[in-house]
Amino acid sequence: MTQPNRTPFVGGNWKMNTTASEAITLIDAVQSGLKGDLVEVAVYPPFVYLREIGSRCAESDILLGAQDCWHEPSGAFTGEISTTMLKDCGVTSVLTGHSERRHVIGESDELVNLKTKAAIGAGLVAVLCVGETLEQRENGQTDAVNESQIKAGLAGVGKDELGKVVIAYEPVWAIGTGKTATPDDAQDAHTKIRALVAEMYDQQAGEAMRIIYGGSMKPGNAGELMAMPDIDGGLIGGASLTAEDFLAIIDAGATQKV
Ligand code: PGA
Repeated sequence: MTQPNRTPFVGGNWKMNTTASEAITLIDAVQSGLKGDLVEVAVYPPFVYLREIGSRCAESDILLGAQDCWHEPSGAFTGEISTTMLKDCGVTSVLTGHSERRHVIGESDELVNLKTKAAIGAGLVAVLCVGETLEQRENGQTDAVNESQIKAGLAGVGKDELGKVVIAYEPVWAIGTGKTATPDDAQDAHTKIRALVAEMYDQQAGEAMRIIYGGSMKPGNAGELMAMPDIDGGLIGGASLTAEDFLAIIDAGATQKV
């Protein structure tokens, strides 16, 4: 049974997908199929659709999120988007350190930390994504990678700010590949992450931290993953692009955590 302060969180990361009309069709279908409020639901559309999707989210309990942000408030940063701009669009949470930003775009731990702190400082929730590559897993480095990414990502974040943090454990080898960590493997990583947060802050902080799993989560495996005691929800890529699948995952979260 989840802690009362660990409301399950399910986020749909649309990545660089959808046209404007597909995005509207998708959000309308998710909105009309949503039952109950046991799960906190957020969507992360492409930046250019934030306003449009945000105006629809405003009519429902779906939270609007952004896939990235820049850490400076304004200035000569061509192509970048500040947290102030995101808030103007109704955004309440931001993904930081997503594996595609780390491994495809080349973001460093330092940049992820700056973005995480900027998001929290702006009053947004930072969904800090961490996880090991296949090579790191095969070398037995899963826990060490999670530890160093979390320590670096949360450097300078105070205990009183942790309510604005969700940690997403997303093994890189499981993202978009159809391969999923087994519930036991994911639970093991989540337990260690929770213990790490407790060690970095205190026991209460560890117990209160929401730690969600990402990496090929779909209707067929979401229930067993979210049934694990330390898995507090999911960050969904591919399956969030189909309303029916995303809604089934949200339902699985609601069923597992009551
Ligand atoms: P996936 O993506 O569900 O397509 O594996 C997850 C993510 O990148 O957050």
